[in-house]
This record gives sequence, structure tokens and C-alpha cells, in this order.
Amino acid sequence: MIERLESLLKDAREELAKASTKDLVLQAKGKYVGRKGEVASLLKDLGALPPEERKSAGEAINKVKTLIESEIERLLSGFLESEKEGKLRKERLDITLPGRFVRPGKRHPVTQVMDEIEDIFLGLGFDIAEGPEVELDYYNFEALNFPPDHPARDMQDTFFVGGDLLLRTHTSSVQPRVMEKKAPPFRIIAPGTVYRRDSDITHSPMFHQVEGFMVDSKITFSDLKGTLTHFLRSLFGSRTAIRFRPSFFPFTEPSAEVDISCVICKGTGCRVCKGSGWLEILGAGMIHPNVFRAVKYDPEACTGFAFGLGVERIAMLKFGIDDLRLLFENDLRFLQQF
Ligand code: DAH
Repeated sequence: MIERLESLLKDAREELAKASTKDLVLQAKGKYVGRKGEVASLLKDLGALPPEERKSAGEAINKVKTLIESEIERLLSGFLESEKEGKLRKERLDITLPGRFVRPGKRHPVTQVMDEIEDIFLGLGFDIAEGPEVELDYYNFEALNFPPDHPARDMQDTFFVGGDLLLRTHTSSVQPRVMEKKAPPFRIIAPGTVYRRDSDITHSPMFHQVEGFMVDSKITFSDLKGTLTHFLRSLFGSRTAIRFRPSFFPFTEPSAEVDISCVICKGTGCRVCKGSGWLEILGAGMIHPNVFRAVKYDPEACTGFAFGLGVERIAMLKFGIDDLRLLFENDLRFLQQF
């Protein structure tokens, strides 16, 4: 019995020493000290011993069992420890890593200027109207008193869609559309996209305009001057000088082009204003009686002013951008500066 016990202890120790995984230790545990293990079978054999030897043999078996069990316990807790460490290592959070940077979105400089223009006119009690970009020749030209042979109707300037349809060349087309549906008095601005066959550093085939018009019974050129002076000084600063020059548009009479003192040199003369000290900024005038006739208003009873401006040109002047095409390339390095 003693010999069997000694070789059992020796085998168990050797096997446990070689057990490189938790599973192998558990396997050895079953084999030696499990319910049907070798120690159990030794205990079963105790009955075969003479009664006087049973007690000491039983004690010896239990001692060996305790030795094996404590070795197993030691090994298992070792595995548990390294399992825990592995898990901790795997789940480690490196809080020194820089976070992922989320770039906030921004409005495009053209949109920013558009919004600013709208805000100024909303503050003056103007409403906003819109019209279609694919427009009838009638609203883009005819109702606005363009004679049939007017050069703006030429293929050089206008994108024709076919039939009576074209891409509107200006937001002035919203004037007759609104007037057809509405009776005066009203004041409206119409922001939107327009199209012309033109492309260089100051022209793009697609660009943005804001049209404005006010109709009532006693509107004068002074109202136009006052409104545009307030608008341009809100946009470019209260010290901006403003100049009205006689001009011609088919849908206004009299017509004017409006200049502001150069935003770069403040009027002393530079490259941007070509030495003149002035920048042309918008077209305007008193609405032509023929426009009122086209929308069935009484030209004797109605008076009104209108104006139109290019949004890209204003954005270029406000932000000091010297090539219009930059506004349409959507290069983030450019756009992030505004
Ligand atoms: N529609 C003109 C253009 O695109 C701009 C303009 C000039 C609008 C005079 C007006 C105006 O309302 O009165 O060049």
C-alpha cells in the first residue's frame, strides 16, 4: 500500500509539473483525486487490509490526497491569476490617445452672404419669394419689357432648354410671377440661382442673385435710394459711400447702377477698383410701366422700385476673394477660412 501511495504521489507530481494548461490540471485532478480517481480506488481497497493497518493506511492516503489537492489548488489559482491579467491587458484603455476630431460644419461663404442679405431686408419688412430656375421666356424676358431682338436673348447669353423654356438669366423673372398673383402694396426679395453662358475669373455659368422690389401707390426714387443706402451700409459698414449712376435696363425707367466706395482702398484707388475708388455693386430703378401693364396693374396708379445684385461678387468683396471659381470648387482648405 505504501509503495502504491508513493508511486501515485510521484506520478501525480510529475503530471502536474508538466500540465501547461488549466485543462490539463483539471484532467489530472479527475484522474488522481476525482470521485472515480486513483485515490478513491485506494480508499476502496482499504477494506482488504487487516483492521489494525487500516487506520494508518487511511491517514497516509488522506495525506497524499491533501498534498495533490493543494498542488492542484496552487496551479489553478496561478492560471486564474494569469487569465485575469490577460483579460485586463486586453481590455486596457489608453486614455492618452488623442480623441477623434469631429470637424464642425460651416455655411458656404455664398450662403453666409445670402443669409446676411436676407436678414437685412427681413428687418425692413420685406418678404421672401421664389421662382423656378427653368423658366418661361415670358417671365424671364417678355413680361420684363425685353424687346424680341434684345441682345440678352441671344444664344451667347442664355441657356435655352427648348420650346419656350430656358434657364433663368436673372431673378428679375420673379417680379412678374409675384405681381400676377399679388396686389400691391408689397415688398419682396427673391434670392436664387441664375444661369448664363459665361465663364472666367469673374463669371460662372451658374451664380446667385437677390432681386428686390417694392410696389405701392407713391413709391419714389428717394425710397429706392434710402433702402439701398441702408442695405449697403449694413452690409459693408456705416462709412461706405454710395453713388447712383444713370443706366439702362428694359424693366426699369429711370435705371441706375449703384457703386460703393472701394472696400479695399476706401476710395483712394487700387487694383480691385481699377484706380477709380468705386465698385459697381448692383442695378436698380423704378419699375417700368410696361411691366405693370404685363401683369394687369394700372401703371397710372402703381409705382415701385426694383434692384438686383450678384451674391458671389459681394462675397468676393467682403472676403477679399480674387477668383470667383474658388467659390465653386469646394476645396475644404479654402472653405474653412470663412
Ligand atoms: N436683372 C439684372 C441683371 O441680372 C439686375 C437688375 C438690374 C435687377 C436692375 C433689377 C434692376 O431689378 O432694377 O443684370
